[in-house]
Amino acid sequence: MIPLRCPDPADTRAVGRRLASLLRPGDVVLLSGDLGAGKTLFAGGIGDGLGVDQPVVSPTFVLVRQYDGLLPMFHADIYRLGSTAEIDDLELPAAASDGVLVVEWGEAAGPAFGEDHLLVRFTVEDDGARTLQFTPRGSWVDRPLAEVAG
Ligand SMILES: Nc1ncnc2c1ncn2[C@@H]1O[C@H](COP(=O)(O)OP(=O)(O)O)[C@@H](O)[C@H]1O
Ligand SMILES: [Mg+2]
Repeated sequence: MIPLRCPDPADTRAVGRRLASLLRPGDVVLLSGDLGAGKTLFAGGIGDGLGVDQPVVSPTFVLVRQYDGLLPMFHADIYRLGSTAEIDDLELPAAASDGVLVVEWGEAAGPAFGEDHLLVRFTVEDDGARTLQFTPRGSWVDRPLAEVAG
């Protein structure tokens, strides 16, 4: 899929909102990119699309927050966790199996999240715009991701 250019925070949020309509129970969405790239804002957009009526805030210091929406949304930030063993120990996919798991992640997706997930990579461009690159894996390959572009 062609990278999506999001010039403004509202654009990034709107992409997250549109993605929510493709989500099913048990889904995993991994958000990768530098601090400040827009991952939490995007997670807030997913929350908007799921009808979450609380603000989605960074879960950095609690590791995972749960929100009620059309589906329960579990939002984790493991950016600062060191080892893959630490990440495995959280058993996030099992905890979130009846809802949607959105994980902020500093680097490439690890095996802890299985073969079936959507990876979204965030890049900050020189002009401040964010570029979102989607990598669908497993069931995501057959989903209409083009709808997310708006
Ligand atoms: N095009 C854009 N998309 C997303 N965020 C942007 C954009 N331009 C500026 N920003 C700002 O960048 C910050 C992103 O913060 P946040 O979503 O918390 O990042 P992360 O979770 O990746 O660390 C916000 O302050 C937001 O307003
Ligand atoms: Mg964040």
